[in-house]
Amino acid sequence: RTVYLKDYRKPDYLVDSTRLRFELEPNSTVVTSSLEIRRNPAAGEGLPPLRLDGVNLELVSVGIDGVALGVDEYTCHDEGLIIPVHRGAFTLEICNRIDPEGNTSLEGLYLSNGMYCTQCEAEGFRKITYYPDRPDVMSKFTTTIVAPRDYPVLLSNGNEIARGEIEGDRHFVTWEDPFAKPAYLFALVAGRLEKVEDQFTTMSGRKVTLQIFTEPKNIGKCEHAMHSLKAAMRWDEEVYGREYDLDIFMIVAVDHFNMGAMENKGLNIFNSACVLASPETATDAAFQRIESIVAHEYFHNWSGNRVTCRDWFQLSLKEGFTVFRDAEFSADMNSRAVKRIEDVSMLRTTQFAEDAGPMSHPVRPDSYMEISNFYTLTVYEKGAEVVRMIHTLLGEEGFRRGSDLYFERHDGCAVTCEDFVAAMEDANGVDLKQFRRWYSQAGTPLLEISDDYDSAGERYTLSVRQSCPATPGQPEKKPFHIPLKLGLLAGDGSELALDTDGTRETVLEITEAEQAFVFEGIPERPLPSLLRGFSAPVRVRYDYTPAQLRLLMRADSDAFNRWDAGQRLAFRALAQLQQDFRAGVELQLQPELMEAYRSILQQEDLDPALVAEMLTLPSAQTLAEEAEVIDAEAIIAARNFAEQNLAEALFEDLLETFRRLDHDKPYRPLADDIAERRLKNTALAYLCVTEKEEALQLADTQFASATNMTDSAAALAALVNRGDDQRAQAALQSFYERWKEDDQVVELWLAVQSSSPKRGSLEAVRALMAHPAFELTNPNRVRSVIGAFSNRNFLQFHQPDGSGFRFLAEQVIALDKLNPQIAARLVTPITRWKKYCQGQQEMMHAALQSVMDSGQLSADLYEVVSKSLKAD
Ligand code: ARG
Ligand code: ZN
Repeated sequence: RTVYLKDYRKPDYLVDSTRLRFELEPNSTVVTSSLEIRRNPAAGEGLPPLRLDGVNLELVSVGIDGVALGVDEYTCHDEGLIIPVHRGAFTLEICNRIDPEGNTSLEGLYLSNGMYCTQCEAEGFRKITYYPDRPDVMSKFTTTIVAPRDYPVLLSNGNEIARGEIEGDRHFVTWEDPFAKPAYLFALVAGRLEKVEDQFTTMSGRKVTLQIFTEPKNIGKCEHAMHSLKAAMRWDEEVYGREYDLDIFMIVAVDHFNMGAMENKGLNIFNSACVLASPETATDAAFQRIESIVAHEYFHNWSGNRVTCRDWFQLSLKEGFTVFRDAEFSADMNSRAVKRIEDVSMLRTTQFAEDAGPMSHPVRPDSYMEISNFYTLTVYEKGAEVVRMIHTLLGEEGFRRGSDLYFERHDGCAVTCEDFVAAMEDANGVDLKQFRRWYSQAGTPLLEISDDYDSAGERYTLSVRQSCPATPGQPEKKPFHIPLKLGLLAGDGSELALDTDGTRETVLEITEAEQAFVFEGIPERPLPSLLRGFSAPVRVRYDYTPAQLRLLMRADSDAFNRWDAGQRLAFRALAQLQQDFRAGVELQLQPELMEAYRSILQQEDLDPALVAEMLTLPSAQTLAEEAEVIDAEAIIAARNFAEQNLAEALFEDLLETFRRLDHDKPYRPLADDIAERRLKNTALAYLCVTEKEEALQLADTQFASATNMTDSAAALAALVNRGDDQRAQAALQSFYERWKEDDQVVELWLAVQSSSPKRGSLEAVRALMAHPAFELTNPNRVRSVIGAFSNRNFLQFHQPDGSGFRFLAEQVIALDKLNPQIAARLVTPITRWKKYCQGQQEMMHAALQSVMDSGQLSADLYEVVSKSLKAD
């Protein structure tokens, strides 16, 4: 069944207060609710029946104002309850039972390693009790949790208001959340947990208690998250003027979790992998991911909780905005340019692919079958780019005026993307009418740019043509409003003045299908540095010569564009190699690329993290995204050849870089140190590509002596991806022996193997699935093995016999019975069959068809598979 945005109607009834009581038992938890309900005055006349959502619930009783209803006085169906209403306001009492232990979907209330926890967004609350489970119904919650005393920690949203013992061996705690909220922000946790505690004083001087709860064995891994939380709280005050609003803020780490984390009011629940870290067990990348996710969930307290979504079509209202906020926070805490490069390369690889694939949808979708499928790169990452463009168009101060107005106007309300844009307009007196198309039109726009220089008139003309490919349901697109940030370089690499004021960078506003921009007083033919900082989520086509790209790489004042010029140069070389491979011509690497890479290594004044990024060839996945038709074999051959040649040719330079950075410093997860480790380990990986004994020994030595996980994991990956089997197996074994008790490290150990082109064959992956460390009911394990294989192991997944595709189909079918959300995500790689060359295409399609034919699918998986099969 499909839900449409155009069918939105206000809720018939409001719930002023929600009192819940949970009596926790693994297989039979009793949930009692008491809801103060009233007719919504804004929703029309009369008293329509009350419709409540409910899924997988065992109804015990229903009563109104203290009188039990007979079974003929309401209707109970598969997806909820329908109750006739006779008064405009009443109290509804419901009692039902649920089975947390049997709940493998990890949605609703479930057990994870003996800990009770919840995940309600988007529509999980209906798996807990009957309720109007929609975000525009906001209610004040009071929650009592009753549990055996060996579950000492009982948590819910808000402030603790009562606790006590109950006869037998049970106790209870009552929590009250003073802020009205939708049910998707409800949370409950119960377990044998330990905590670390700290304090934060808000800008108005209120003291807030901060607590992070984990299983006892992980209590030593909370420091970084706590530090990140305090930094995020301060940042939101300074940059957005947003202060925290409760006396307590809690984070809980949970091992079984479908996503990264969840912003439940006052009680954020995190995937363990996104919160727990120590220098010995977590890589720099993990440290940075934790910092950004802790901030993301904290920032939701304003962008999501205080101001929430009217309906799930508006998901990007909170997610796009909050991703933008967390990206800016990370940029302020670390290297801004490197953060931008990481985010854009992810966007270009994965979001562009989504935009061009069968599930393509606008930032604000018009319809869905299962909302869980729309927690996408488009809603999150492209949504953040849309907010960033508003920021670019309005400037720092204008954007802040807009966000202040937005929070002031809509505090306590459930609103739409339209309300967000309107606040930005009203606070700045601007018109973003055309800009709104970014919310409603899917697909990645293309800018085709050409230029002309009139030397006599010193006039430079830039001509821009925009277009956007058709996407499912949207054959024609109207022009977008696109901010194009640019500068012009002189032949010596200096920046030319663009006007008489001496401005050296400007933002052109593209609004037409075709448009020309004229710059006067330009003394020489300039080299345009286009789309600086990736000022819009578009593709840019401009005919750069290799020499021009090398000039941009060396001299552009925009670090992002220096990197991007290098990427363009690499793309070009790799495209040529792919073409030669297909034609059976002997491969040869373009000397320009080699020279460009050598000079990057020699630029010692550059941020080492930027050097590392610039030295990294576009991934096979990125090449696939860029290709008209994906020829997996050609992509692999081209990329391997280029990497091999670069590694051989630059061996001495790389060795020198490695040695220069290979010093023993105490570990700190700070930008400068992270940058050095990043470059050092990038050099190590390249050196090992040659499989020279000298290089492999460096990896061996680093593996044996590393005192932090960043260096240890980099050395392990080098040894697994290169060199002889004995060495690789020895490293894998000693690593496992040392870390087998640590869940996060074990997950890394699994992923290193399943993503390895050399050692992650399908056979090896199947062996990992039989290893005691693997568990099909744990999404992190599934992602580390099956996800890493199908998303990051291009070579093995695309074996010419199609075995990788069939394997994925088989796993998706099995998973769908346990966890539909994970199954629907995991299937993605084979939904892209259309883009592959013929043989691969047929096998992929057959694998996808086998999923469809396997029997009754979940709504989640059905939506993705059916839309992908019919795509054309
Ligand atoms: N709101 C959470 C976040 O972005 C993610 C919730 C995901 N839920 C889901 N059903 N996919 O921080
Ligand atoms: Zn979020």
